[in-house]
Amino acid sequence: MIPNLESPAVTTPHTPSPSASPVPPTATAGGSVLVIGSGGGLGAAMVLALQADARYSQVLGLSRSSSPALDYADEATLAASAQWVAQQCAGAALRTIIVATGYLHSEGACPERSWSQLDAAYLQRVMLVNAIGPALVIKHFAPLLTRERSSCMAMISAKVGSIGDNALGGWYGYRASKAALNQIVKTASIEMTRRSKLSVCVALHPGTVATALSEPFSKTGLTVRTPQVAAQELLRVVHHLQPAQTGGFYDYQGQELPW
Ligand SMILES: NC(=O)c1ccc[n+]([C@@H]2O[C@H](COP(=O)([O-])OP(=O)(O)OC[C@H]3O[C@@H](n4cnc5c(N)ncnc54)[C@H](OP(=O)(O)O)[C@@H]3O)[C@@H](O)[C@H]2O)c1
Repeated sequence: MIPNLESPAVTTPHTPSPSASPVPPTATAGGSVLVIGSGGGLGAAMVLALQADARYSQVLGLSRSSSPALDYADEATLAASAQWVAQQCAGAALRTIIVATGYLHSEGACPERSWSQLDAAYLQRVMLVNAIGPALVIKHFAPLLTRERSSCMAMISAKVGSIGDNALGGWYGYRASKAALNQIVKTASIEMTRRSKLSVCVALHPGTVATALSEPFSKTGLTVRTPQVAAQELLRVVHHLQPAQTGGFYDYQGQELPW
């Protein structure tokens, strides 16, 4: 049995903290938003949705085919891209970063159904794209987020990365890489709060979305949403997150997920 992209939820409804500000942290207008992975199915839809949103005065996107290009296989491209973003945001503070990169399968490389299929090269790639790359994004880009007002770093994770929710097994590498990402997000959220009490750093589960990543696995009677719908739903969650929710793992409806 292999997991589907949206295994049954063990969810805890989010109850807003009584001390949380009544004003959503990123609801005010102006400033910049950056989407990393802007060439992907979900990332491209997020860029389009943000461009149509008056909340920001500038929408920036980075991918392996943008200029400058950003490729997790080469940390120098992250350093150079961060420099470029700092220049672009000189007059429009960077308020939100969305990391929509990810890897599940490629030509000849598929998620494992059994331990007998574990493969070092696949494990290295899935860890690079889903965990190491986003960690390096935090290193190079988190220092660019404004401290003058509320800010958000949202990493697209996956519910199959939840250890508590793992009832089906399979997909060793993808599950482990997203679990590692979730731990990186939690750890970074603590450091980000020390830097700014108005910051939010979270992992988000997008649900099953019709993209190249899900295409081989999404024909099993699941509810598959378009990237456009998923982007709108995820952005609604991002824009209503409170600093008290930092370090959490939420789905596209804002429900908290188990680690
Ligand atoms: N689709 C779903 O049903 C689903 C379900 C759960 C979670 N997710 C998560 O949602 C996120 C977005 O996925 P998607 O469905 O939009 O997949 P996608 O269309 O395949 O997009 C993947 C993105 O990852 C980028 N990427 C891959 N390798 C990279 C590398 N070495 N360096 C930098 N960027 C790299 C790609 O960049 P290029 O544009 O340069 O190729 C692309 O932007 C991922 O984190 C995925 O795990 C998706």
